[in-house]
Amino acid sequence: MNIDGKLTAKNLRAELAVEVAELKSNYGIQPKLTVILVGEDPASQVYVRNKIKQTQEIGMISDEIKLPADTGQEELLKYLEHLNNDRNIHGILVQLPLPKHIDESVIIAAINPNKDVDGFHAMNSGRLFNGETGALVPCTPQGCIMLAKQHLGSDLSGKHAVVIGRSNIVGKPVAMLLLQENCTVTIAHSRTKNLPEVCQQADILVAAVGIAEFVKADWVKEGATVIDVGINRISTEEGKTKLVGDVDFDNVVGKCGAITPVPGGVGPMTIACLLKNTITAAKQSVC
Ligand code: GUN
Repeated sequence: MNIDGKLTAKNLRAELAVEVAELKSNYGIQPKLTVILVGEDPASQVYVRNKIKQTQEIGMISDEIKLPADTGQEELLKYLEHLNNDRNIHGILVQLPLPKHIDESVIIAAINPNKDVDGFHAMNSGRLFNGETGALVPCTPQGCIMLAKQHLGSDLSGKHAVVIGRSNIVGKPVAMLLLQENCTVTIAHSRTKNLPEVCQQADILVAAVGIAEFVKADWVKEGATVIDVGINRISTEEGKTKLVGDVDFDNVVGKCGAITPVPGGVGPMTIACLLKNTITAAKQSVC
């Protein structure tokens, strides 16, 4: 069975549009997201375009600052200082990856944590780690939890969740969120021994490794809920390209209880959760 991320994201955006309208009429606030794109990476350009478009579709304001690939780190920091101090901007997102000469960790640390709608700043990851309220939580992990609950219901207590991947963007934060949901959590990664056996334990299997069709059917427990975070472009036999996830979908779909397809699973949820974070940041700016 497929978990429909496209529909879930659409429903979430409809709820968020109502919240935006209420914020406007009750408080005179229109949430605003500013996205910075450095360079001309084609995939990043598509992501940023979609973020801007969907922000505007639910009644929020968004703008894009496009900078050339040779923009210096200091110059980028100056832009951030300006955006941090602009009271009309509630959310700031610097699209990653950045060109090699810019240190991503310096840039992430320079974003005002209250406007860090990616949830990558140490203040937000620390709040998440500590289980504190008020954290802006990374978007893809939030989407993963929503999709797992879509199939399993709101109570994930006691389930064994195995996360493959330990990135700051997905693996670590999704593990923290699963722990908050009272799951027993295993974080597996490239050095994990007996990875297939570890994955076979999972009631919830989150694949975030970035390797096309890496997770095979015999790694998956019968009836497990599989959340596929991968977005990999591969060549087909007909000489075309297609998007696939980190899970060998065609063989796993018949074995698991439910799976998020690629495309149409986790991907659409990421942007919807970015919109949600921007609204949260706007609300927190007045409370
Ligand atoms: N590049 C790929 N995914 C993301 C994301 O979630 N946030 C940012 N800022 N850049 C990305």
